[in-house]
Amino acid sequence: MQSLAEGGVKIGYISHSMSGFHQGPLYLSHGPFRSGYMRFEKHVFICINQRETGDRPSCGEQTGMELVREFKRLTRERNLKTRIRCQRAGCLDACDFGPSVAVYPDGIFYGGVKPADVEEIVEQHLVQNRPVERLMIDFGK
Ligand code: FES
Repeated sequence: MQSLAEGGVKIGYISHSMSGFHQGPLYLSHGPFRSGYMRFEKHVFICINQRETGDRPSCGEQTGMELVREFKRLTRERNLKTRIRCQRAGCLDACDFGPSVAVYPDGIFYGGVKPADVEEIVEQHLVQNRPVERLMIDFGK
């Protein structure tokens, strides 16, 4: 398969984003990974933020570390740990859509993620490079 450096795979077109910097075709990178500059093929950030005040929802109050444990368990079982890094993160600024998960370098944000959704994200997105559309956050709405 092609790497991102070779053009990646066009999966769609983003017409808007929060920053406005991502207008244009959306490409996904996939292995074999040839760049010596990137440590991981994909990096998954799982928000576990918990706010002390209740002015905005926070992902960690809903799922705590449960999502992190499930991502780590499933990537370990599939021997993906050298290629894919899953780690807890602070607020991803997608609080109203949480629990939130971000996958880079793809720039895909998932919202409303439940532990039962993690296997689908791992299998479809992390292994097969097919983002799980039903969980993707559309920041343009
Ligand atoms: S608290 Fe999770 S994205 Fe903000």
